[in-house]
Amino acid sequence: MSATILDGKTIAENVRLEVKEQVTKRVAEGKMVPGLATVLVGENPASQVYVRSKHKACQEAGINSYGHVLSADATQQEVEDLVIELNDDPKVHGILVQLPLPSGLDEERVLNLVSIEKDVDGFHPLNIGRLAQKGRDPLFIPCTPAGTMYLIEQVVPKIEGQNAVVLGRSNIVGMPVALLLVRANATVTICHSRTKNLPDVVRQADILVAAVGRAEMVKKDWVKPGAVVIDVGVNRVDDPTAKRGYKLVGDVAYDEVAEVAGVITPVPGGVGPMTIAMLMKNTLRAAEIADLK
Ligand code: GUN
Repeated sequence: MSATILDGKTIAENVRLEVKEQVTKRVAEGKMVPGLATVLVGENPASQVYVRSKHKACQEAGINSYGHVLSADATQQEVEDLVIELNDDPKVHGILVQLPLPSGLDEERVLNLVSIEKDVDGFHPLNIGRLAQKGRDPLFIPCTPAGTMYLIEQVVPKIEGQNAVVLGRSNIVGMPVALLLVRANATVTICHSRTKNLPDVVRQADILVAAVGRAEMVKKDWVKPGAVVIDVGVNRVDDPTAKRGYKLVGDVAYDEVAEVAGVITPVPGGVGPMTIAMLMKNTLRAAEIADLK
């Protein structure tokens, strides 16, 4: 084992403490307590866990949170009406619609409705569009990609000119991470299921971001010695010895890749905690944007 472990848990705790201090300060100045509303549709167990963690983090940061749960058979109109109501609620500075929505609901239409000033997930097409354009700045950057960049910045003093490979092109992680790396002047390759000679392409990476959702897919011989490896994957694999019957692993075969990488993030305890820390930062920012109105 030679890689340095990039401890997202500790880094995220520090970010959350900074947010908490700023929330305390603004409230002492008589400004509003930041408020986050979550919208959870259906009973996806992973989504329930994520939403619960987001509320807990709000509580610890002194941020108000409002949980809205709709049943899996909620109509498009019901979801849209809720978002419209939250757009108009002055106590709510950030709105987070937990994804994926149950099939049958039009995700794009829902995300389009979120006020861009309350779009703490950064998924509104206008925020994503601005992210993709030179000279434009989104109001919010999606939380997992922002957390991924925050981690990379801790260990790569100059991202400019580095070869970055992003494995995966999802709307939530892969594509926005790639856009952020381009904005940081890295040379970026996006790989996906149709990429030819995948291990050869991945081996070019000085910075590798794995976000495909395939358990332990990235092997030791895919990784350039000394590379910075950020593992965004969270995959459940059967483990009869574990209390819950499964364990969580990333998209990277951690033990073997740690023998060659320069830096690696663990799963759990790497990118995951950063997502929530960035959501707290974005919610504080949303309250600051509302102050200016
Ligand atoms: N589902 C998986 N990741 C995310 C996220 O960052 N935000 C939301 N809203 N849903 C998700």
